[in-house]
Amino acid sequence: MILVTGASGTIGRSTIAALRQRSAPFKVGARALAKAKGLGFDAVEFDWDNPGTYEPALRGADHAFLLPPISDKQVEQGKAFVAAAKRAGVKHLVKLSVIGARFEPGIFLGRQHGEVEKVIEASGLGFTHLRPTFFMQNFVNYYGVDLSKAESTVYLPHGTGKASWVDARDVGEVAAVALTSTGHEGKAYDLTGGEALSDAEVTALFSKATGKKIAYVDVPEAAAREAMTKMQAPGWLIDGFMELHGLIKNGYSSAVADGVSKVTGKKPRTFAQYVDDVTNGRAS
Ligand SMILES: NC(=O)c1ccc[n+]([C@@H]2O[C@H](COP(=O)([O-])OP(=O)(O)OC[C@H]3O[C@@H](n4cnc5c(N)ncnc54)[C@H](OP(=O)(O)O)[C@@H]3O)[C@@H](O)[C@H]2O)c1
Repeated sequence: MILVTGASGTIGRSTIAALRQRSAPFKVGARALAKAKGLGFDAVEFDWDNPGTYEPALRGADHAFLLPPISDKQVEQGKAFVAAAKRAGVKHLVKLSVIGARFEPGIFLGRQHGEVEKVIEASGLGFTHLRPTFFMQNFVNYYGVDLSKAESTVYLPHGTGKASWVDARDVGEVAAVALTSTGHEGKAYDLTGGEALSDAEVTALFSKATGKKIAYVDVPEAAAREAMTKMQAPGWLIDGFMELHGLIKNGYSSAVADGVSKVTGKKPRTFAQYVDDVTNGRAS
């Protein structure tokens, strides 16, 4: 039995689709229990903000997918989760982390993942760390590409920097393999797409596939900060996102890694494939 956290999110949905393809038994740990049950999941109560829910949710699972939402409490929650997993008799944790998680000094959002990776490694549990780069899905989920409108614009401080965007569906497939087969114990996989693209190149792909006007505007960093401040984002999150944007702008996110093909035996999906799929309702 596998416990999946974060099941309703971008990576969680892909992971579950891949687990279903493999007919693997799983249960979902969700804070919104009714919503998760409504989606047809075998769901148990699990709330990152309530550590008392961790162990009961983990009981009966031999594998668990640890997907932490973005938070400034990831390290304390991660530590409590690992301790609860040990008490509950879990054998193997697959941790959704991030590329560069162990870079020193790295960036805040990466360091948090890295700290939890270290806690898992010291715990004696079996583990596999998944370290994806930026998701292709961010453009539709967060960056402003709106496929329901005739025109949309992505305003980001990425300059002409390129990233080796990965399709969340590939990350989900890697997670499902690591959760259901042997040979991935003690491994860490960097997960990227097969090529690095700038935001202007990505929006051009969206424009071409949809026939709509989808543009990228490079904005000054101060303007990006101001926009997040107006949205009342907390300071740690604004600083964290600015560090992420800086990675792309300064060319630190363009490296291509072979984690997806190593684990799934398939080449990672291209951005053009993802754009085609999301435009035609085959991906979200
Ligand atoms: N976006 C990127 O480009 C990128 C790249 C690399 C790594 N990452 C990492 O990916 C992770 C985020 O993954 P994602 O984008 O798949 O997440 P997501 O789409 O934001 O979904 C978050 C998931 O966590 C659940 N959740 C939130 N708060 C919770 C709580 N208090 N208790 C229990 N469940 C809770 C949500 O459930 P509800 O339905 O209840 O809200 C949802 O299922 C982060 O750790 C981030 O650092 C992101």
